[in-house]
Amino acid sequence: MQMTHQTPHVRLDSRAVGALDTDLVVVPTFEHDGFADVPGLAQASGGEAVAARDRGSFSGKPFESLIIGTQGAGWRTSRVVLVGAGAVAACTTDVLRRIAITGALTARQHRLRRVAVLVRAGTSVAPADAAQAVAEGVTIANYDGASFKTADHDPVWLDEATVAGLGGSDALSAAAERGVILGEATNQARALANEPGNRLTPTVFAERGAALASAAGLGVEILDEKAIADLRMGLLLSIAQGSQEPPRLLVLRHEPAGAVSNITLGLIGKGITFDTGGISIKPAENMDKMKDDMSGGAAVIAAMAAIARLKLPVRCLGIVPMTENMPGGRAIKPGDVVTSAEGKTVEILNTDAEGRLVLGDALWYARKLGATHLVDLATLTGAVVVALGKTTTGLFGRPQPWVDAVLEATRRAGDRSWPMPIFDDYKELLKSEIADFSNTGGRPGGSITGALFIKEFAGDLPWVHLDIAGTAWAEEAKPYQPKGATGVGVRTLVHLAMAAPAWSAAK
Ligand code: BES
Ligand code: MN
Ligand code: ZN
Repeated sequence: MQMTHQTPHVRLDSRAVGALDTDLVVVPTFEHDGFADVPGLAQASGGEAVAARDRGSFSGKPFESLIIGTQGAGWRTSRVVLVGAGAVAACTTDVLRRIAITGALTARQHRLRRVAVLVRAGTSVAPADAAQAVAEGVTIANYDGASFKTADHDPVWLDEATVAGLGGSDALSAAAERGVILGEATNQARALANEPGNRLTPTVFAERGAALASAAGLGVEILDEKAIADLRMGLLLSIAQGSQEPPRLLVLRHEPAGAVSNITLGLIGKGITFDTGGISIKPAENMDKMKDDMSGGAAVIAAMAAIARLKLPVRCLGIVPMTENMPGGRAIKPGDVVTSAEGKTVEILNTDAEGRLVLGDALWYARKLGATHLVDLATLTGAVVVALGKTTTGLFGRPQPWVDAVLEATRRAGDRSWPMPIFDDYKELLKSEIADFSNTGGRPGGSITGALFIKEFAGDLPWVHLDIAGTAWAEEAKPYQPKGATGVGVRTLVHLAMAAPAWSAAK
């Protein structure tokens, strides 16, 4: 197997961008840009930087790009790529991160190993945010999803990336370092989610997660099928029983000295290494995509590792229930009733609604281990894709201050999310004639009833559920997002941990 990602060496350099020794300079380009703050560009490009726009071949609209040769005017580098940045006023941290990804991917496509991304003057992005976003972007661009090819595939990796136009302070260097760690974590989650179900079984997933976690300095525990049975996790076991592969429950702990007192952030991720639907089997078309049904779990593992590497002063607990969902002679059947570790009974009306089951036991366990605030991440429902499409994550939860804290973290992370309702009315749909509730509410409000099911296991704790079924996997390539696993949620969780001093006071 080839390498999935590499971390470029990122540094800051505040000298004039033309003076940098690099292979490609990425210039974010606004609509109607005069490049007043990029001395020499107009001249070194022979007027092309501006002429291209007058000709109509490049307008500065977001993420379109144009490579131009440069020489003279004191420029050291022989190429720049203009990357559209839209209107100056609309150039946010998010746009800057995407520009960095676009530019860095362009460098790799042209087999260039050194890139500099210019942070332009005039936007409202704070310098530290800009440094972090660019560092994230260039790192995220250094990922390759085709790692199982053995021939005709020879990706070029960036080894050096420069945040240009900024520098000279420890705070900025720290921000760039943070960006690299966040970018790396994103890539780790993508690599796990991209891994096929035959290779990433629950056992292997747990081992890989444990390895990433211990390398970062986290406490690690893998519960096997016996330990899971001892805890009477009937929901997780009911899904696992149809598979030849035994389940695992990965428990990660970050317990730093001097942590914010009285809080433990509990992060729970769905870890279905392959979802066939079970006896309620899925149609063949696109079933292969269900290898990514552990994206939430991968995000939790990668985020926990980043939280440890950043030494964030907040106690965190990561819990990932891992199993396949398979049909077979021992598989659960529609109509079966199972008992959760908490004691609540569930009538399983559809074996394809497995994510909420494994999460139910995992949320209970997070509470048992002392979590005070819960966030779960799951590729939970097709319904959320119908509601919000492929680029927005559905966000559910309560109480409002906790929802707001997580929403703010998604914004800072660039993981676009939108709040969804969890009115009690919808609970009707989960009624069972014979058990405490059923595991499906039918098609209406499908993502909401999924969330309400999970809420049953959150106790009274502040809880947010992120349904990433649409956002975990990109089906279409964008300049800033290749096809495949996106690593959604990783940076959200880290930003949430970073903001702990703020939200723990609010509560
Ligand atoms: N893993 C799927 C959800 C999913 C669907 C993720 C499409 C990514 C893309 C989940 O386990 C599932 O099958 N959900 C069912 C629930 C239903 C049976 C209530 C669904 O969405 O159809
Ligand atoms: Mn399913
Ligand atoms: Zn699933």
